[in-house]
Amino acid sequence: MSELARGNILDLAVYRPGKPIEEVQRELGLTEVVKLASNENAVGASPEVIEVLKNAAYGVHYYPDGSGYRLRHALAKFYGIDPGQIHLGNGSNEIVQQISLAFLDPGDEAVMPVPSFPRYQPLARMMNAVPVEVPLADDTLDLEAMAARLNPRTKLVYICNPNNPTGTIVGREELDRFIGLVPRRCLVVLDEAYFEYVDNARYPDGLKYVADLPNVVVLRTFSKMYGLAGLRIGYAVARPEIVDCLERVREPFNVNSLAQEAAVAALADRRHVEAIRNLNREEKDYLYRELTRLGLPYVPTEANFILFDAGRDEKLVFQSLLRRGVIIRGGFGYPTRLRVTIGTRDQNRKFIKALEAFLKEE
Ligand SMILES: Cc1ncc(COP(=O)(O)O)c(C=O)c1O
Repeated sequence: MSELARGNILDLAVYRPGKPIEEVQRELGLTEVVKLASNENAVGASPEVIEVLKNAAYGVHYYPDGSGYRLRHALAKFYGIDPGQIHLGNGSNEIVQQISLAFLDPGDEAVMPVPSFPRYQPLARMMNAVPVEVPLADDTLDLEAMAARLNPRTKLVYICNPNNPTGTIVGREELDRFIGLVPRRCLVVLDEAYFEYVDNARYPDGLKYVADLPNVVVLRTFSKMYGLAGLRIGYAVARPEIVDCLERVREPFNVNSLAQEAAVAALADRRHVEAIRNLNREEKDYLYRELTRLGLPYVPTEANFILFDAGRDEKLVFQSLLRRGVIIRGGFGYPTRLRVTIGTRDQNRKFIKALEAFLKEE
């Protein structure tokens, strides 16, 4: 019956997420498996979130608050902005889809870096829009090349900052210059999923652009720093006119009640955020040292993952680590480079041990 589907749907690849731990345990008969494949928070959510969730469970027979009132107001207070500038999504991923639905007509162009977050491209094609993929230069977004691809058909531009899978950022001055070149009839989406991890004075805060410009959307998420990936909750910040468009394509109860309650509690627990940030810093240094010891180059990162060069076929590396109970991520189009999420010391040690065993076995 697939002939009944819209033509462009059949060309879309099914998204292959990082392998779940249970699947690997089942398939390989392993008891202990470490997942460093999807840039999740290695420690988990704040204990205060867990407490809130226990109570929230008693309310799951009610539909959630479709307007996300409490969370939108908590975020607005946190950032000092108007609640009407915030739109909630079932993960920021859903908002990428809503942006496509709300803004892309057939034939419109969406300029995006590559490799980058792999959902921009299919969600543009789903609308019969044209993805314009611009390769990175030196593992960083090539804003000059992206600017060169702007034309009267361009409707969207994606800036993934920090970029996944490289972990690199574009700085404030470069972004200022680039955004100055984008016409107002084109939307700039600043995907800042890893915003909370960045430790670099050059890093621009996307919300400043939202304050200054009508055509900027910032995407952030509770999946990474706040450890709520399993609940699916992200948000966009933009001018109310843009939020209004996104609201029109939103499912009535797109963000579940547990996610809303958990996000309010997660946002309030700044100590947990600080602890995760410190851990990420320390463990990043640990992984840098160990990769250097193994003679493997890596891209210095601003996020909670590292792209490294194993110097061997990435598929072999992936499979070999999998057999040793460590799930990482390849498949970015690099022959020998893979991405590892920065975990706890114990998880990182297991990863390094597995990698070292593979290199010795060669
Ligand atoms: C750059 C980037 N954007 C968006 C997302 C989606 O995050 P979520 O849908 O969990 O909020 C991810 C997740 O890996 C990401 O890496």
